[in-house]
Amino acid sequence: MAELRGGLWLRVVWSMGLFLVVAYCQSTDPAEVTALRAIRESFIDPENSLSNWRRGDPCVSNWTGVLCFNTTLDDSYLHVRELQLLHLNLSGTLSPALGQLSYMEILDVMWNKITGSIPKEIGGLTKLKLLLLNGNELTGSLPEEIGYLPDLDRIQIDQNHISGEIPKSFANLNKTKHFHMNNNSLSGQIPPELSRLPSLVHMLLDNNNLSGYLPPQLSELPQLLILQLDNNHFEGTIPPSYGNMLQLLKLSLRNCTLQGPIPDLSRIRNLAYIDVSNNNLNGSIPNMNLFDGITTIDLSRNQLTGSIPPSFSGLPNLQRLSLFNNSLNGSLPSSIWQNRTFNSTEQLTLDLQNNNISGVSGSLILPPNVTVSLQGNPACLNASMAIFCQSPIALVNHLQSIPSNSTDNCPPQSCPAPNYEYAPGSPTPCFCAAPLLIGYRLKSPGFSDFPAYFYPFEVYLTSGLKINHYQLDLTYEWQKGPRLRMYLKIFPVYTGNDSNAFNRSEVLRIRKMFTQWEIPDSEIFGPYELLNFTLLDPYKDVIPTSPSSGGISKGAVAGIVVGAVVGAVLLSAFVSLYILRLHRKRYHAVSKRRHVSRASLKIEGVKSFSYEEMKRATNNFDAASEVGHGGYGKVYKGVFTDGTVVAIKRAQEGSLQGEKEFLTEIELLSRLHHRNLVSLLGFCDEEGEQMLVYEFMSNGTLRDNLSVTEKYKESLSFAMRIRIALGSAKGILYLHSEANPPIFHRDIKATNILLDSQLIAKVADFGLSRLAPVADMEGVVPGHVSTVVKGTPGYLDPEYFLTHKLTDKSDVYSLGVVFLELLTGMHPITHGKNIVREVNIAYRSGMIFSIIDAKMGSYPSECVEKFVTLALKCCREDTDERPSMAEIVRELENIWQMMPESESRTNDSINTESGKNMSSDESSSSATKNPYVSTDISGSDLVSGVVLTIAPR
Ligand SMILES: *[C@@H]1O[C@H](CO)[C@@H](O)[C@H](O)[C@H]1NC(C)=O
Ligand SMILES: *[C@@H]1O[C@H](CO)[C@@H](O)[C@H](O)[C@H]1NC(C)=O
Ligand SMILES: *[C@@H]1O[C@H](CO)[C@@H](O)[C@H](O)[C@H]1NC(C)=O
Ligand SMILES: *[C@@H]1O[C@H](CO)[C@@H](O)[C@H](O)[C@H]1NC(C)=O
Ligand SMILES: *[C@@H]1O[C@H](CO)[C@@H](O)[C@H](O)[C@H]1NC(C)=O
Repeated sequence: MAELRGGLWLRVVWSMGLFLVVAYCQSTDPAEVTALRAIRESFIDPENSLSNWRRGDPCVSNWTGVLCFNTTLDDSYLHVRELQLLHLNLSGTLSPALGQLSYMEILDVMWNKITGSIPKEIGGLTKLKLLLLNGNELTGSLPEEIGYLPDLDRIQIDQNHISGEIPKSFANLNKTKHFHMNNNSLSGQIPPELSRLPSLVHMLLDNNNLSGYLPPQLSELPQLLILQLDNNHFEGTIPPSYGNMLQLLKLSLRNCTLQGPIPDLSRIRNLAYIDVSNNNLNGSIPNMNLFDGITTIDLSRNQLTGSIPPSFSGLPNLQRLSLFNNSLNGSLPSSIWQNRTFNSTEQLTLDLQNNNISGVSGSLILPPNVTVSLQGNPACLNASMAIFCQSPIALVNHLQSIPSNSTDNCPPQSCPAPNYEYAPGSPTPCFCAAPLLIGYRLKSPGFSDFPAYFYPFEVYLTSGLKINHYQLDLTYEWQKGPRLRMYLKIFPVYTGNDSNAFNRSEVLRIRKMFTQWEIPDSEIFGPYELLNFTLLDPYKDVIPTSPSSGGISKGAVAGIVVGAVVGAVLLSAFVSLYILRLHRKRYHAVSKRRHVSRASLKIEGVKSFSYEEMKRATNNFDAASEVGHGGYGKVYKGVFTDGTVVAIKRAQEGSLQGEKEFLTEIELLSRLHHRNLVSLLGFCDEEGEQMLVYEFMSNGTLRDNLSVTEKYKESLSFAMRIRIALGSAKGILYLHSEANPPIFHRDIKATNILLDSQLIAKVADFGLSRLAPVADMEGVVPGHVSTVVKGTPGYLDPEYFLTHKLTDKSDVYSLGVVFLELLTGMHPITHGKNIVREVNIAYRSGMIFSIIDAKMGSYPSECVEKFVTLALKCCREDTDERPSMAEIVRELENIWQMMPESESRTNDSINTESGKNMSSDESSSSATKNPYVSTDISGSDLVSGVVLTIAPR
């Protein structure tokens, strides 16, 4: 009995031991471990993203980006299924050892800086489904071995420098749906053999050096929806066979040196988008017999002749018809727009500039949603045709803004924890939640104007992700391509407390939907790109990233021992570093070098950014990111990797100053917080550069809004103008009365008053007059070095100019000029005429209403009169006759109260805050108290730069 019991025990212990051994020994295929080490060796990893690849087992200890099958396969090893190294700033090369990961299904190294060529060994990965190499600096040619991958679904090598021909072997990729090879240097002819690809849906080969004839055989591709070949140099014509691609949705052959006629496309029922612009096409436009789905027709910049065909009429979804720079004649039939009903989101732009069109046939009434541009045609010689001779709406290239009101009534403080913000669309009002931030881009959309597709897009994406409609919030901008860049925010649902966040499995699920392209394809939205999926707090530990990796593993005991040793080593390293740092700090204090160690410098509430971060946010200070310039230097729009949008002011040569002075100024600026001042978020003081990082103001400068001519932007109503005047005055009053020491702005002008997404006025560039010389007043005698008069012509206080004595009343004068601009829309100086003088003359001769800006629509005349009186009072020559800033605020509040109910309610919130506390809106914010200190600015809740918020319905 005892023996038996002993035997049983032995058996139990034995089998438990076996179990433990089996469990413990579950490990990655050694060949793959070796391969991963080699892969890591050939990368350069400046952010140490792969530092945990040095220890443990790849699959068991969750190496960054290494995803494995969850059980051992028949050979009793774990195998790597995915390598997900998206957006980690990796450079170096792709190791041929990748070919050893023979079970791999997804290889994703998108948006790094990897150089070298694509190793042909990738052709040995027979299970590979997604090959995602786009957005790197790869060179060399495409290995033909890749053409034999039997399961490959998607090949994305776009945005590299890959050259050579497209291998004919790619014709064997009979499961491949997506060829994304645009923006490389591929050359030679498109192999006609590719017409055998049975599954191909999207062929994007634009922006390469492809040449030769367009293969007529491509029309045999049975599934092809998008053929995009722009910016190549082909020979010959558009093959007539392309009219047989009955399923085709988008044909884009812009700037391809093509000749001959436009083929008959009248049988393509699905066609939504055709762009054959900027070629040498000739002949007349065929009767295209277009179908209802068409949104965009671009035949511009060719040599087309004849008249505009009747088939362009009655198209219910048409957004853009571009026929400019051709030789078309006849008249423009109004039936193109006449019988169509437009809803508020729909626009139709007809650009027919520079043709020989003689007039408009049919009705001469133009609905507000339609823009017709006939300049450069005989038709515009007739003055009665002026409404048809407008300038076309430029493809809007900046972030788009539609104010969303759903969080307007939430408390002004931001949510308590970093990266939490008010969920805009939630049925529960004002609840704080941590969204997932996703960089996303539609690579080849089937439309050219997004508003009409907001709602379908939201439905498409949220149903694809299996989330509620209200959980999605987005901002977008058009980019070259045209591609539609989006910043997505996905909010968790309300769970009843103030720390609403997704749980781990939901984060992983949503991430997987994006990274594995599990969101079903949509025809009209086309293929999407994933640009980043950055996990900030509270999601930081969801995906193991070094150096922190969560959880106690099976190898924990060993790990702890090793850890202790490593810890001791690290600790001593730390101590030495710290001592070194102390030394260095001392060195810094006496040296004039401006290399500041970022960690050594801390100013509450603002963040110190590295030069590298600035460079990356602005695409290496690309001219395309430039949004303005001033006395201090250039201003760039910056976008951080998490999607946060900021304005970056970069000091130019002459504006640089001593490091100590710079930091002192920043410290001063960092303490200023007011609803009507643009917030300073951070700075950069590295590599001999000085930059200031501000919240991004999506609606631009007040000057731009007053000069606005584009149809998209509505002109500011009188109520809005009063609100802007009042906001500006409050911001300046705060600088005069609450800042310590008081700050005189010295350069108030309509370009220094910015409007955020809600059109709230915020004063910019305060304090900068201390940081940098502002453009000198013309005509200043060069001898007066000690007292150079600063300011901008037209806004400059004449008293200050004469006496060089600066007072708060100098700002009052400049603000008065801004008020006159608000009233008249005029510039301070036009054709040598000064606005103050002009308005004074009109005022005295009782003609004041003749110079009021007609664009503001109707207004209560007694309010306008009071506002003119106030503005002119501000601009009195004698400083003592000008009102103080506090008086200005009071008077504007009076005017506001006088406004009829309906006017003042529109779009507004200031009713609630008028009253005694004029000096600052937020009683909590003063120069000494800092409401933002605890907030890390990488959390986007601080930044009101997020712009197009689609208000979920
Ligand atoms: C690795 O990830 C799994 C879940 O995917 C988790 O259960 C385990 O604890 C992690 N191991 C380590 C060492 O982090
Ligand atoms: C392992 O993965 C498969 C599919 O990949 C899944 O069906 C299964 O539930 C997973 N098992 C575990 C234990 O996670
Ligand atoms: C795909 O190619 C393989 C081998 O080249 C062939 O056996 C198979 O039939 C093809 N499938 C289709 C659908 O053409
Ligand atoms: C047209 O394409 C060529 C390359 O084929 C390119 O260099 C040029 O910039 C393109 N022109 C336009 C207007 O895009
Ligand atoms: C537009 O409507 C009018 C009457 O409503 C009709 O006579 C005309 O044929 C229509 N034109 C087109 C192109 O549908």
